[in-house]
Order: sequence, then structure tokens, then C-alpha cells
Amino acid sequence: MDILGIDIGGTGIKGAPVNIETGEMLSERFRIPTPHPAKPQAVAKTVAEIAKHFDWNGPIGCGFPAVVQHGITRSAANVHKKWINADAATLFRAETGCPVNIINDADAAGLAEMKFGAGRGRDGVVLLVTIGTGLGTSLFTDGVLLPNTELGHIEIDCNDAELKASNAARKRDDLSWKKWGKRLNTYLSSLEALVWPDFIILGGGVSKKSEKFMPYLDLNAEITIAESFNHAGIIGAALAGKPRK
Ligand code: BGC
Repeated sequence: MDILGIDIGGTGIKGAPVNIETGEMLSERFRIPTPHPAKPQAVAKTVAEIAKHFDWNGPIGCGFPAVVQHGITRSAANVHKKWINADAATLFRAETGCPVNIINDADAAGLAEMKFGAGRGRDGVVLLVTIGTGLGTSLFTDGVLLPNTELGHIEIDCNDAELKASNAARKRDDLSWKKWGKRLNTYLSSLEALVWPDFIILGGGVSKKSEKFMPYLDLNAEITIAESFNHAGIIGAALAGKPRK
């Protein structure tokens, strides 16, 4: 089955049709810069433009960087506050004319990694952490997702972890890889103490430079890097877009 996967981010909205049995993207991804201000109506129009680009009239799955419960976006750490309690699914369906399911962006990446990437065939507790502007988490037990874990916002030294250990924090504080790697280690160790994962997968753009920070990580769990890098968001969104019976 082919589903249009769309990954909504703070700077860009990217999409591509995906074969959800193989995880293959069926064409080049298409990207439009995120509109500013990124209010629900404006983002919905951009989502519709992406669907139009692919001449799409089938099911769509969207990954969104906030808590998503049954099509309603509930939080707004790095997005416009108008998303809190917005009925995003209804809005996107109205703009695209297609069936749309929405999922948290880290959960989307986690679904993709579990089915086609580094988490393939992994039972037990698997934790995926996506490191970007925000810190997203996705938690699986025996392959089943517990959605909206939001463990990027646990408190470390009286701070929201995301403000200290995200890639945005590394850039903002102009940290060396060593300094940031140690911060990341503190964060991941705190997560270990909470959920005791067997296996940790690190994703997000920065995971491409893993050789720079992996030497500073000292954890109990086995740890690896996501395989589909920044395509996991699109592929996982497509997986979540499968219409429910
Ligand atoms: C949000 C999460 C999201 C993560 C990555 C965090 O700020 O609270 O919902 O998954 O950023 O985008």
C-alpha cells in the first residue's frame, strides 16, 4: 500500500509517497519551508500543497512535533501556541480532501526504525531519541509503541532536558562535541534510570556525526544510530497514515 508521508518540522515540511510494506520512498522528497507564523491554518495549506505536488488523493500520514491524541495536537514546546488543542486531523482532511492520520514526529521516526531500520526484530524495551531543535522520544516494548512519551522534557539540574541536551542547545551554547557529548550522556543516563531500555537508538540530523559524540556516552543499554536518518520521519508518518478499519 502506498501512503503519502509528511514530516512537519519547525523549518521545513517534507513529504514523499512511501510503500509501507517495504519502507521505500517512491520519489524524491518534496520540501516547502514552514510558513511563518506556523499557525494551524497556514500549515494545513502547506500540507495540501505537498499533496497537490504529488497529485495525491489517497491516505496521508503526518508527523508533528507535539503530543498528538486522536488527531488533536496537545502541546507546543517548539511550535506556535495555537496548536494546543487544535483539531489538526480535521483541518488537514478539509484542506487536502484526503484521509489523514497524525502522529508525534518522534513516534513516527520510531515506527520507521522499528520496522525498517536499527530496531528491526528487536524485542524488549527499545527507546528512540531524536535529537534536533527539540528532543523527541519514542518507546517500544516488544515492538509495541507507547505513544507521546515526551521524555525530552524530563528535568535535569532544574532545567528542561531539551534546553540543555538538544542539538539546538549545542549550537546555542557553542559547545564542543566533548562538552555536549557529556551533557547528552547525563540526559541519557537519567532516561535509563526511568525506563531501563535494553536498546537505545539515536536519531535526528546530528546522528550523522555520531563519531564526534559517541565516545562520551557510557550507558548500560546497547546503543546505536538510526539507520534511515532524516527520512525516518517521512517513512514513519506514512506507516501511521494507514487507514484504521
Ligand atoms: C516536543 C515533542 C517532539 C520533539 C521533537 C519536543 O519539543 O515536545 O513532541 O517529538 O520536540 O520534535
